[in-house]
Amino acid sequence: MQLAQRLDVVAESITLAVTARAAALRKQGVDVVSFGAGEPDFDTPGPIKKAAIDALLAGKTKYEPTPGTPEARQAIADKLSRHNHLHYKPEEIIVSVGGKHSLYTAFMAVLNPGDEVIIPAPYWVSYPEMVKLAGGVPVFVKGQENCDFKISPAQLAAAITPKTRMVIINSPSNPGGHTYHPAELSALAAVLEPHRDIWVCSDEIYERLIYAGQQTCSWAALNWDLWKDRTMTCNCLSKTYAMTGWRIGYTAGPRSLIAAMNKLQSQMTSNITSFCMPAIVEAYSNPNLEQDVEKMREAFEARGLHIWKRLNAIPGLKCVRPTGAFYVFPDIGGVLNRPLGPSAQVATQAVEFCKIILDEAHVALVPGTDFGFPDHVRLSFATSMANIDKGVDRLEAFLKR
Ligand SMILES: Cc1ncc(COP(=O)(O)O)c(C=O)c1O
Repeated sequence: MQLAQRLDVVAESITLAVTARAAALRKQGVDVVSFGAGEPDFDTPGPIKKAAIDALLAGKTKYEPTPGTPEARQAIADKLSRHNHLHYKPEEIIVSVGGKHSLYTAFMAVLNPGDEVIIPAPYWVSYPEMVKLAGGVPVFVKGQENCDFKISPAQLAAAITPKTRMVIINSPSNPGGHTYHPAELSALAAVLEPHRDIWVCSDEIYERLIYAGQQTCSWAALNWDLWKDRTMTCNCLSKTYAMTGWRIGYTAGPRSLIAAMNKLQSQMTSNITSFCMPAIVEAYSNPNLEQDVEKMREAFEARGLHIWKRLNAIPGLKCVRPTGAFYVFPDIGGVLNRPLGPSAQVATQAVEFCKIILDEAHVALVPGTDFGFPDHVRLSFATSMANIDKGVDRLEAFLKR
């Protein structure tokens, strides 16, 4: 039977091959240390779980308004005002099925065929594919490693054409682990300011995971009056509250954007799971949860510092210190094109390197290819210190052989 042509524009994830191989090895009883998971290894805080359980037991099991309950949207509006200095009204917010669904629905709502979307690289794997599915054309701007992978205002200016419709800013970033300082964001904003028909999609899902005293701010808070109508602020509960499986994301933006997204979402998914709505209210209005968030952040900060130091001490690897999210993204150029380990196999780029490391050292890494950097690998440090040491010990021993 025939399948849709739109599938032709979507790339198969190279990462999946490595993930499938790791799963197969595990099935054979091999002890694989994985640095793959892009999700906190902590559990969702108890009060958030309880809010959902109570709602479920109380019979909150029916359809709700597509963009979210008034209480959930109000709680998000309050959070954005309190924490991000953004002044959205509840009707300027739509809750979707995770950050991914928020972003995809937003792209579907604003992109027309041929519209160009500027995506700084390295980038989260799904941006280009979602842009293409929405008819857009990804335009990559490569961040420089000596600038912690951040793009410069001059690079951004050079990428703008009459077809540019959107710029994606992801700070803190997956996979680069970098975070733009408010001054750096302002410099990028100065470039975009005259281009009044270009949207900024600010993906702020790692906003609470920042380290080393790094400062950052929400894009639209740079200048609320200037940016409120041109920014889509995307966020979710997945990373901050260890809620990846709950699938709760949201977009805040001008009323026309939210209405357009609501129109699409009402024909696709409708509301998110009804008894998850009170969990949003709990997450954003129980001040005690700040302690849980901070505890997780501290643990990630310690792990990030540790893995960065250890990887940088391995000859052939070069690693930027992470200031946000929970990823390190070392350059493996120094170990490509030379015999590796006992089998002396040679890798010319990250995908081959990851296969060799998985097969011979039993460490699962994610090749940078899907993130736009084929001579880098991504390691998630959302795993215990013991696992980090075990995996890096193996990597180090293998690369020294
Ligand atoms: C940069 C970025 N944006 C969005 C998402 C999607 O988040 P969610 O799991 O809530 O769909 C991810 C998930 O890893 C991500 O890394």
